[in-house]
Amino acid sequence: MQYQIPRGLFDVIPKGKSKVGNSYIWQFIENKAREACKSYLFYEIRTPIFEKTDLFIRSVGESSDIIKKELYTFLDKKGRSLSLRPEGTAPVMRAFLENNLQNLPLPHKFYYIGPMFRYDRPQKGRYRQHHQFGVEYIDKKSFYKDAEIIDLLMHFYKLLNLHNLTLNINSIGDAESREHYKKALKSFLKPHFKDLSKDSQARFEKNCLRILDSKEKVDQEILKDAPIIREFLNQASKDYFKNLCSLLKDLEISYKIDEKLVRGLDYYSNFVFEVTTEKEGRQNSLGGGGRYDDLLKSLGGPDLSGVGFGTGIERIIEEMQRENISIKDPSKPFLCFIPLSKEAKKLSFLYASKLRKDEIPTKILLNIKKAKKALKLASEEDISFSIIIGEDEINKKSAIIKNMKKREQKSVLLQELVSVLKDLFKDRNKDV
Ligand code: HAM
Repeated sequence: MQYQIPRGLFDVIPKGKSKVGNSYIWQFIENKAREACKSYLFYEIRTPIFEKTDLFIRSVGESSDIIKKELYTFLDKKGRSLSLRPEGTAPVMRAFLENNLQNLPLPHKFYYIGPMFRYDRPQKGRYRQHHQFGVEYIDKKSFYKDAEIIDLLMHFYKLLNLHNLTLNINSIGDAESREHYKKALKSFLKPHFKDLSKDSQARFEKNCLRILDSKEKVDQEILKDAPIIREFLNQASKDYFKNLCSLLKDLEISYKIDEKLVRGLDYYSNFVFEVTTEKEGRQNSLGGGGRYDDLLKSLGGPDLSGVGFGTGIERIIEEMQRENISIKDPSKPFLCFIPLSKEAKKLSFLYASKLRKDEIPTKILLNIKKAKKALKLASEEDISFSIIIGEDEINKKSAIIKNMKKREQKSVLLQELVSVLKDLFKDRNKDV
């Protein structure tokens, strides 16, 4: 093959073997996401695939892996630095401010479904283009909103029939609490500095909280005795988290407090969470998010807080496969025209065009000359009715309609054919 897809990317194809599922599975998941957002009143926002690079540096954070290692950055023809979006929160904040949406009444509830780009070593569950369903809820800060998006996310997973999931939550406190904690963590880590992994050493000065996120064994060993953030939370942060936990309990949403969870993006404050699967290994995060108190302000916007999540569609599909959840392709043909002469081909083509406009999924077998072979193909595809038109039928101005399940057939005059077929489609559920 002369041309191959770049590494870490994939095609979503309608039929045939695909490592990330066929397109009807994607549509199924996207429809469930839209369905869930409809009842929680989140509205769709679509932002471009690329933005000015500065936007991501300012919001996601210079020291994060996403910015340091994973950004797809390029210069346009005028030498301006642009980047493919690695995530959805920063673009939504930019769009919110640029479109002056802060002038509209509160709350602001957005959702998006689309591709994100991160340059990382590809492996199962980790791609260079992945797709996220995400929401951003901008409003006055309140734990009710945090609970609402968790409720929405868990409801969405339930709509997909996913069960073996764990919701991990943590409080990383407000800015004041985090400052105290960072100081304590740094003085704890300082004597171990030379034993930390290279990545963690690099994070030590810029963002030592991220060291908690490290999956490296050497770091984890050192971190075993590290101070925990909970002990540094001020009263306001403690109360916030306590109220949120109790609301989650009332909603009957089970969760686990993971005191080392900080997440890899710098904009978070107070509440962070991640939903994980039972899969062994690293790529077991199905979705994650948290609150960001200062992001809008730091981008020059109003003093409003936000909370949101992103969940990866590829990982959802992999988890559905792991949990043996199968989805049927809903788009099977209902009718199949089998024309056996030149004139019949044209007639079938015109009838099919009419029926398709009435939303009846109609197929024509233009390349098959033998009725027997065509009928075999139609029954393999689980088609409900075949319409056979040969020389004889043309002479008699009629067609044969064959009920593929009952194996019965009848002759119908061509002038009545379209209305008879439409009636069969209307009665399709009765006929099973
Ligand atoms: P994130 O945790 O970086 O958060 O990504 C969200 C989800 O996207 C992950 O849980 C995972 O399912 C999926 N994902 C991330 N990277 C990849 C990859 N390379 N390949 C496949 N799937 C991937 C965010 O992006 C935040 N913007 C979420 C958020 C919204 N926080 C507040 N609002």
